[in-house]
Amino acid sequence: MIRVLFVCLGNICRSPMAEAVMRDLVEKEHLSHKVEVDSAATSSWHIDEPPHRGTQEKLKEYGISTKGMKGRQLQKADFENFDYIIGMDDSNIRNIRTKLGDIDSPKIFRFLDLTDHRKDVPDPYYTGDFQETYDLALEGCHALLEKIKVENQL
Ligand code: 4NP
Repeated sequence: MIRVLFVCLGNICRSPMAEAVMRDLVEKEHLSHKVEVDSAATSSWHIDEPPHRGTQEKLKEYGISTKGMKGRQLQKADFENFDYIIGMDDSNIRNIRTKLGDIDSPKIFRFLDLTDHRKDVPDPYYTGDFQETYDLALEGCHALLEKIKVENQL
C-alpha cells in the first residue's frame, strides 16, 4: 500500500480538502487498493473535529463526501507510516520537519511545488475563499497522482 498524508495547521480546511479530493481521484482511477489517503494537523487545536463548514460545503458541491473525517495531530510515527508527507505551506513544512525530528527527506514536500504555481496554498480559514482551496487541491492532486504512478509503476 502507498500511503499519502496531507498536513496543514488545523486539519480542518486545506488538508481535509486535499485528502477528500485525492481519495475521490484515486477511487475514480480504481487505485483504492493501492493508494491510501489521510490528513493531519501540526497544531492540536481541532482534534476530533469534522472539517470546517466551508470545506464540507465546497466538497458537497462537487459530490465528494466528508463522512467520518475528523481532525488529528501529526505524530512522530507518521514518518514511518507514510510514503508522501505533503505540507500545504512553508510553515507546515518547517513544523513537520521539527515534529518528525528535523528530517530532510524527499518524502516531505510542499503541495503546490508539484505544480507550476510553486506557492503556499492560501489558508481559507483567513481568506474565506474555499473555491480557491478546492481548485488548487484538484490541480495539486492530479500532479501528485501522476508522481505516485510514475514512482510506483502504477
Ligand atoms: P487549516 O486552516 O490549517 O487549513 O486547517 C486553519 C484552521 C484553523 C486555524 C487556523 C488555520 N485556527 O486558528 O484555529
